[in-house]
Formats: sequence, C-alpha cells, structure tokens
Amino acid sequence: MNNFEFYNPVKIIFGKDQLEKLATLIPVNKKVLMLYGGGSIFKNNVHASIKKALQNHTVLEFGGIEPNPHYETAIKAVDLIKKENIEFLLAVGGGSVIDATKFIAAAAFVEDKEPWEILNNHLPIKKALPLGTVLTLPATGSEMNSGGVITRIATHEKRAFGSPLVFPQFSVLMPEAAGTLPKRQVANGVVDAFVHVMEQYITFPAGAPLQDRFAEAVLHTLVEEGPKAFANPADYSAMSNLMWSATMALNGVIACGVPQDWTTHMIGHELTAFFGIDHARTLAIIAPPLYRHCLNDKQEKLAQYGERIWGVTGNTVQEKALAAIEKTEQFFHSLEIKTRLSEYTPKYEGTAEKIAERFTERGWVGMGERQSIKPTDVEKIVKASY
Ligand code: NZQ
Ligand code: ZN
Repeated sequence: MNNFEFYNPVKIIFGKDQLEKLATLIPVNKKVLMLYGGGSIFKNNVHASIKKALQNHTVLEFGGIEPNPHYETAIKAVDLIKKENIEFLLAVGGGSVIDATKFIAAAAFVEDKEPWEILNNHLPIKKALPLGTVLTLPATGSEMNSGGVITRIATHEKRAFGSPLVFPQFSVLMPEAAGTLPKRQVANGVVDAFVHVMEQYITFPAGAPLQDRFAEAVLHTLVEEGPKAFANPADYSAMSNLMWSATMALNGVIACGVPQDWTTHMIGHELTAFFGIDHARTLAIIAPPLYRHCLNDKQEKLAQYGERIWGVTGNTVQEKALAAIEKTEQFFHSLEIKTRLSEYTPKYEGTAEKIAERFTERGWVGMGERQSIKPTDVEKIVKASY
C-alpha cells in the first residue's frame, strides 16, 4: 500500500425530514446566498422547506446554474456576493450546483487575476466562503469532496479544480427529493458513481485488499440497487442506497494508498465541452475502449473485478479481463446508456485529434496509473469510441 493522508471534514445528514436542521447548521448571524439550478427544487418542495427552515436567517437567492455549470454564470454570482456581502453559501441541487458553488466560494476572493486561472493554471485558492449543500441527485460525490468542474462556454473548455478550502461544512442528502428525477438522470448517476470507483480501482494490484473490497462493495451495491432506482426513482430504499453509494464512491476513502487513473474523466470532459453530452454518458463512451487499449496494464484488476462483481470465468487473466469489459458495457446498456460517440453526434470525425492536441498543449503527456498514456494513446482510445 502507498503512503497516504486522509482528511474529510464533511458532516453528512442523511434521510427524510432533515431540512429543519439547516436552521442550526448555518449560524443565524450569517447572510446566506442559496444557489440552485433550473428550478427542480421548486417542483419537489425543497425550496419551500429550506425557506421555512431559514425563516430567521437573511437569505438571498441565485438560480439558473446550468448542468455542466458555466463559468460565465458563476462570475455573476461572485458579483452578487461582493455587492451584498454574503457570508455563507448554500448549494441546493445536483453536482453542477454544488461544483459551481465551490468555485464561486473561492472566486469571491480572487482579486488581481481572472478567476479562470483557478481552472486554467491551478491558481492557488487561499481563501473561500464557507458552504453547505442540499443534495437532490445522486451521482458526483461532490457533496463530500473538495473538487469541482466548470465549463467555459466561450471557449468550449471544461476544467477541474480542487482545494480543501471548498469542502462543504455539511451536506444534507435527500433521497426523497431525488424521487422526482427523470430516469435519464438516475442512469447518469449510477454510471458516474460506477466509473468513479473504477478510476480508483482498475489500475494494478497495490497490496490494498481493504480498498479493493470497499470499491467492490460500492460496485456491487450500484449493480443491485441502481437498476431498481432507475426503474422507479420514487423507490426510497433503492434511491437511498444509490445516493449513499455515489457519495462513498468519491469521498476519498477508496483512493487511500492505491494508484488511480482519471483518464476516462479527463477525456470525457472534452466530449462534454465539444458536444454537450451528459457527463456520465461520456464516461460510458470512453471507459470500455480505454480498458481495451490499456489491457496489458490493467488486466489483473479487470479480471479480479470481472470475477468478483460479474462472476466471469475464463482460462486466462486476459480472457476474464475482456469478459469483464463486455459485462460493463452490458450494464451501461441495461440503463439505456449508449456507448459509442457516433450515437450521440454525427460530427465525431476529428474529435480524437482535437483532444490529443489539447492534452499535448496542457502538458498532459503521461496519464494513467503508470503515466504511460500519451496523447497518441488518447487519440487511439477516442477513435475506438466512434
Ligand atoms: O437545474 P435543476 O433544475 O436543479 O435540474 C437538474 C439538472 O437539469 C436536475 N435535477 C437535479 N435534482 C433533481 C433534478 N430534477 C428532478 N428532480 C431532482 N431531485 O438534473 C439535471 C442534472 O443536474 P446536474 O447537477 O448537472 O447533474 P450531476 O449531479 O450529474 O452533475 C454533473 C456535473 O458534476 C460534474 C460533472 O462534470 C458535471 O458538470 N462532476 C463533479 C464531480 C465532483 N465535484 O467531484 C465529479 C464528477 O466526475 C463530475 O465530473
Ligand atoms: Zn464523474
């Protein structure tokens, strides 16, 4: 096992009828900005319940944060925060609202540079406003981690950032509110969480059996409960298990002491930036060809995954690894998620070259758990996804 540090200060409040606790979670003397997306929180009563809970607080609102949240929109919230001297941010919704809120919390203190530098050049985050979240969509794990992803529409760029200063102070996890999700978003949530685990697990054996079994526990639960939540988002039990699995998939626990490979995500972000494809779907497009391309490096873990999660059999490690990749694709298909780029856009030609070029420009020339995935490999992986 590799050396590691683990730190996660997020207080989790899970379940039904928890919103009234907001009244004490947020100090009453703090001026609050509640941030949300396109209006789902008005349909499932979450907005009204929060207003009631915070009736003794001063609460301003900022709505309209898009899926794959826009930098351009986040900057408008920063202006409002400065004008109104906001002291606490409350993100209400899915990963996009939470990510945008984390970015806004940090951007509010960037004075002499453009806040885009946080995303483009890893401008260090020295200060951030305190924030809390109310989660209505199980998927990203953003509610219990310190990262975020922001899209700049003007230049079709989607970039990630992170800092311990943007860990939420608390997150209220609401499986009941997720009962109003369209099936498409539930499928996205299952696949996003699934691939988060895979990015921390499908590498090479690192003598970390506990982390392997944590990862497999989350995968098993997603395989069992995900389809139930997909079939009926209002199934509280299934949605609860999906939500907690998605949180556990990316809160740092399964990453302790093991190699990671986030290449599927890095390529996937480009597909969203170019074509607006839902985040999880980009992962379903890229993960299978990436595993096939990196078979030599990843086959031992792929075979272990195949045996333990899907019960695959085979005469060789490689046979089991290939069967595991097929099972993964079938699982995505069972959630009505297509796995080829050409099924999402007719304009796929040239995408592989463009992504490889961007990675070269950014100096992303040695990705993967062995730093062996070069832009030329990225090009081949994306072409294999057409
Ligand atoms: O905007 P509203 O009206 O709220 O509607 C949203 C949105 O249209 C809707 N929704 C949310 N809760 C609902 C609901 N509709 C009905 N009932 C509810 N209870 O769902 C739509 C999608 O929401 P979004 O927040 O975009 O989805 P998700 O949670 O999948 O977040 C995706 C974003 O997170 C980033 C992705 O790149 C993408 O930008 N990620 C963040 C990560 C992190 N911070 O750790 C890791 C992930 O890998 C991911 O990259
Ligand atoms: Zn993801």
